Amino acid sequence: MDWQNSLSERKTAEVQFKDWTQNRKLSTLGTNAGSKTLPFQTWHRFKEAYAPELIERAIQESEIPVRRLLDTFGGSGTSALAAQFLGVESTSIEINPFLADVIKAKTQQYESGMLTHDLGLVVRGALRTEGRLERFSTCPPTFIEPGVKGRYIYSADIAKMLSALLDSIEALKEQSHQRLFKVILGGILVAVSNVYVNGKGRRYRRGWENRKIKPETVLDMFVQSAARAIEEIHAHSNRRHAKAEVINADSRVAVKDVSDVDLVVFSPPYPNSFDYTDVYNVELWVLGYLSSLDDNKILRGSTLSSHVQIARDYQKAPCGSPALDHSLGLLYSKKDSLWSPWIPQMVGAYFADMGAVLKGCTNALSKGGEVWMVVGNSQYAGVPVDVDQILIELAPAWGLTFKKREPFRSMRASAQQGGKQQLAETLVILAKQ
Ligand SMILES: C[S@@+](CC[C@H](N)C(=O)[O-])C[C@H]1O[C@@H](n2cnc3c(N)ncnc32)[C@H](O)[C@@H]1O
Repeated sequence: MDWQNSLSERKTAEVQFKDWTQNRKLSTLGTNAGSKTLPFQTWHRFKEAYAPELIERAIQESEIPVRRLLDTFGGSGTSALAAQFLGVESTSIEINPFLADVIKAKTQQYESGMLTHDLGLVVRGALRTEGRLERFSTCPPTFIEPGVKGRYIYSADIAKMLSALLDSIEALKEQSHQRLFKVILGGILVAVSNVYVNGKGRRYRRGWENRKIKPETVLDMFVQSAARAIEEIHAHSNRRHAKAEVINADSRVAVKDVSDVDLVVFSPPYPNSFDYTDVYNVELWVLGYLSSLDDNKILRGSTLSSHVQIARDYQKAPCGSPALDHSLGLLYSKKDSLWSPWIPQMVGAYFADMGAVLKGCTNALSKGGEVWMVVGNSQYAGVPVDVDQILIELAPAWGLTFKKREPFRSMRASAQQGGKQQLAETLVILAKQ
C-alpha cells in the first residue's frame, strides 16, 4: 500500500513538474537553456542557471532511488526548486547570501492571500515613508549621488524610494515575506540603476546622465514583479513542498557536514575569471548583505578559486591528472603574456577546491549514488584548460569513478564566459561504488 501511495505521489509530482516546465523541448540542458521564461526563474535574471529538466533527468537515470539531492553551488536554486516539484528533498549550499535568500524564497511555502495583504502594506508604507539616504551610508561612495567624479549608480531620488521600500519590507512581521519581497526588489535593482552588469562586472549605461527614471517607476516595477511572483506562487501552490534546506556557506567546508544524500547535481563557477561577487554586487550592497569592504573581501575570498580579482592564498594544484599537468606547464611557461600573473596558481587551486567539494560529496553520498556536474572549459593565452577531462582524471583520488561524459554545448559561447570564447560545456557523471 505504501509502495502504491509513493508511486502515485511520484506521478503527481511529475505532472506538476511538467506543468511548471510547460513540457518544453530544449536543445540543451546546460546554461542559457531558456530558464528565464519559467515561473519563479524570472524573479531574478540568472543567466548561468541550467535547465530544471537536468534534475528530472538525473533523478530518473540515477542507479539508486533518490530521496535526497545535494547541490553544492546552489546559485538561483534550479536544483532545489526542481527537486521540490519532483517530490525530492534537497540541500543547497550557496556562498552568496543574496542568492541563498533567492533559493529560500523560491522553495518556501506561502499563503498567497497573506502575501497580497503584505504587498499592500509594503506599498502603502513606502508611499508614507520619507526614504533615508543614510541607509546606504556603508555602500561604496560610487553607489549614491553625488557619487565619485560625478558618477553614481542611483540618483538621490531613486535611492530614497529604494530605502522607503526596504524600510517597509523590513517592518513586515513575517520573515519569509520580508525575504521574498527583498528578493523581488533585488530582481529590479540593476534595471532601475545607471549601470548594467555582465560577465566583466559593472559598466555605466550609455547616456545614463540623461536617463531619468522616476521614483514612481521604481515602485511600479516592484509592484508588478511582486504581483507576478505572487500569481506564480498561487498557481503552483498545490505542488509538493519537499523539504529544501539551504546552507549559506562555503561548500568546500560546509559539504563535510552533509550526509545521507542519494544524488549530487551542480554546476560550479568555471575557472574563467567570472567573479559572482562582482556580478551580484549591486544587490549585495543595496539590500544590506554587505556593509563594509571587509565583508566584500571575505565573501570573495570564500568563493571557489575561479577568478584572480583578489589576492588570496591559492591551494596547491592536485597531482594525478596528466591533462592538468600539461595545461599548468604551458601556463607557467607563458606567465608573462597572461593578463594576470596569478592565472596559473588560480587554475591549479581551482582543482584543489573542486577536490575538497567532490571528496565531501563522496562522503555524503549513499553507495551507488552519482554526481552530475555541468562544467565549462577555459582558455588563457591559447592554452586550453579542459576542465571535464581533468576532473575525470582526478575523480578516483576523490573516491569517484567515471561513468559518462556528454557535451552540452560544444561550439557555442557559454553564458559564464561572457558569451565571447568558443568553449565547451560538458555534463560529467561520476559515481560512488
Ligand atoms: C554556475 S552557478 C550555479 C548555478 C545553478 N546551477 C543554477 O541553476 O542557478 C555557481 C554558483 O556557485 C556559487 N559559489 C561560488 N563559490 C562557492 C563556494 N565556495 N561555496 C558555495 N557556493 C559557491 C556562486 O555564488 C554561484 O551562485
